[in-house]
Amino acid sequence: MASSRTTGTRTGSRSVLRQPDPATGWYPVARSADVGTTPVPVGAAGQAYVVVRLRPRAEVTALPARCPHRLVPLAAATVVDGRLRCGYHGWQFNAEGRCVDVPSLGADGTPPPRADLSLPWAVEERDGWVWLAPERTSVTRPPRAGGAPPVPEPVPAPPPPAGPVFGNLDPSLDAAWHPVALSSELLEGGYVQTRLLGRTWTVHRRDGAPDADPPAWGVTERHGLVWVAPAEPRHGLLDVPDADEPRATSGWLLPARTTAPAGLLADALLDAAHVPFVHPGAAAGHVVPGHDVAPEPGGFSSVQAPGPGSRHRVTHRYRAPFQLLLRVEDLDSGAVRTVVSLLQPEDADSTRVYTRLLLTGPRGRSVPRDVVAAEVAAAQAALAEDLAQQATMASAGLPLLPRDELHVPADRLGVALRRALADLAVGG
Ligand code: FES
Ligand SMILES: [Fe+2]
Repeated sequence: MASSRTTGTRTGSRSVLRQPDPATGWYPVARSADVGTTPVPVGAAGQAYVVVRLRPRAEVTALPARCPHRLVPLAAATVVDGRLRCGYHGWQFNAEGRCVDVPSLGADGTPPPRADLSLPWAVEERDGWVWLAPERTSVTRPPRAGGAPPVPEPVPAPPPPAGPVFGNLDPSLDAAWHPVALSSELLEGGYVQTRLLGRTWTVHRRDGAPDADPPAWGVTERHGLVWVAPAEPRHGLLDVPDADEPRATSGWLLPARTTAPAGLLADALLDAAHVPFVHPGAAAGHVVPGHDVAPEPGGFSSVQAPGPGSRHRVTHRYRAPFQLLLRVEDLDSGAVRTVVSLLQPEDADSTRVYTRLLLTGPRGRSVPRDVVAAEVAAAQAALAEDLAQQATMASAGLPLLPRDELHVPADRLGVALRRALADLAVGG
């Protein structure tokens, strides 16, 4: 431990701390004993890093605090086979900061060079402490600790994106439809109070029709939800053809709430590459099959042809700002599973999530109620896994500047989402 190996000058019985001289360029960041194979967030010269041992008792590695892909804090990453693996899409980094695996690219894929992390100049252990030199310094070793332990800097927040982010209070969201309550929550003659865009709204139902206070440009009811458009919306509501299919059985998840901005959650709902890492129980491959994105008024759609060994056609549909549909059709049996996700941006740090399943059985048969209940329970558990992942993101919104993140081919839908929200933000 530091106290047994220090070289502080002794004055009587008191140790006098020889503080690390900032001119040395070395910063004490953590006690050696506190750094194992779980990354520890630390700060040096105002920069955020994580320090970790990539194998038990191995030397300490220091890496920047965020994954370059979607800026997830690497404090939430795990050590796997001597590498640090980001928990969102499984990108792996070695001790030199090199990105050595992007699972969505497949075994033969080469990670893009920009995926490599820039390491601090040096990290070293001395006197029971981990020291970090962010920049080159002429002092080749950390200073000896004095008689009292050195004092690490407070841990700074990981750096925010350089460009704009699309948060829940973006002014452009006024001109859009937002879900504010389940229809079943609004009884005849009653009201619900709800948060939308940082404001409180009271939604009434009189003579069957919903109305809002303060007055809104529009209040309507569709897809089993009450919707409010504070100002004239630029885009209409998502079409859900399966909802009108008489043989489809509907099941609702309990509405959920997350501190993550709706844009980030919408990104996760469009993203296939995270499934094996965030939903370990799901039977999903790492490689994301290629797919095109077709622009549509107010959004886009994308149809994924069945990949090798699959007989499922996967369709995504998106309407700005936060209406999403995922439809999976079994091409052999004709069974269809549609998931409709509709997000309510309540406050800067609060999003309510409404999810409806629409299920049609093989050859158009209806799906028994107990099967629907099991599907709803499984979807609720998967949503909880998504929300737990989102809680690690530490971001005020979805980054809109492409170079703030690192997009790979599996991210086409996420790129289209960012474009749609960037268009909305500039009034498009
Ligand atoms: S792998 Fe880190 S955010 Fe995607
Ligand atoms: Fe997910």
